[in-house]
Amino acid sequence: MRIGILTGGGDCPGLNPIIRGLVLAGTIKYGYEFIGFKDGWAGPLDNHTMLLSPDNVRHIYDEGGTILGSSRTNPLKDPALIDKIKANLQANGIDVLVALGGDDTLGVATKLAKMDINTIGVPKTIDNDLSATDFTPGFDTAVAVVTAAVDRLHTTARSHHRVLVVEVMGRHAGWIALYSGIAGGADYAMLPERDTDLKEMCETIRREFGAGRKNYAIVIVSEGAKLVDMGDLALQDDSRDAFGHVKLGGIGKTVAKLIEQETGIETRDVMLGHVQRGGTPTARDRVLSTRYGVFAAEMIHQGQYGQMAALRSGEIVAVPLAEATDVTKTVGPEWFEMLRVLHA
Ligand code: F6P
Repeated sequence: MRIGILTGGGDCPGLNPIIRGLVLAGTIKYGYEFIGFKDGWAGPLDNHTMLLSPDNVRHIYDEGGTILGSSRTNPLKDPALIDKIKANLQANGIDVLVALGGDDTLGVATKLAKMDINTIGVPKTIDNDLSATDFTPGFDTAVAVVTAAVDRLHTTARSHHRVLVVEVMGRHAGWIALYSGIAGGADYAMLPERDTDLKEMCETIRREFGAGRKNYAIVIVSEGAKLVDMGDLALQDDSRDAFGHVKLGGIGKTVAKLIEQETGIETRDVMLGHVQRGGTPTARDRVLSTRYGVFAAEMIHQGQYGQMAALRSGEIVAVPLAEATDVTKTVGPEWFEMLRVLHA
């Protein structure tokens, strides 16, 4: 059998170990041949391919990014593009297409599966916002990167008795801010799931400057977070990507100014941006990604098309693709209750 692989959407550490696991297991156990499509859905659209063999993936267990390249190309914009993809898959003799992606990429895979194209999904995104799976590759690394940065920010904030506001990725889901906020001992985390009351946040910050407290404060803000009555989200500019997403960014700066105005305490902001998506995956992400890749080879063997590999209570299982892409997995109320205690 001939298997096509593509990686779409924002890259993340963990994609290469997934490709490696899939190619090694598929070749060694089942004798499959693999073709990589380059740059997300642009690959099957423009017929940009590369050969994937055990020899060219064996060493990529620790490489960040994706050897296939990625893009936010959206072929659902025009039915003619889907026809082109179908024709190119046929021309390459592809029996099964494995798409590695987040909600956008897997949304396209879901549609293709409904058109009787043998499609399998593997999740990835630093945002960890895909439903039907407990964790996505990339998330652990992003949290580790942010936590390491926050650890460093503590010492400079402490020296200058400042507030430091750290903006992290997370459009609709605040998983990165939540986890790195807890791991990095932040004093406040602003998440997209719940609008933040500025006065209440500033009270928490002021408390840290009171008797017996540490005399500095760290605030983590998801890029998609808002203040109560803020209106629109903070945007970098007016542009949208092919899936219609706005370019978020800037909430950290706005919040830092407001905190300084409200409290009179000197405040600085840091935007971590794409540093969170770059570099080598953590050991946990390497193992998780490898398990996803190896499992995807089993899914091909079992003919589990229209399904996605998912982590559920420690096991990798197959779930319907639609289940993963229908709703965004967001931070639930139980976590806010925990934050209430940690921020007190
Ligand atoms: O991959 C998801 C994500 O990291 C979002 O959190 C963020 O808003 C977006 O990607 C940034 O994408 P781009 O690389 O296109 O700027």
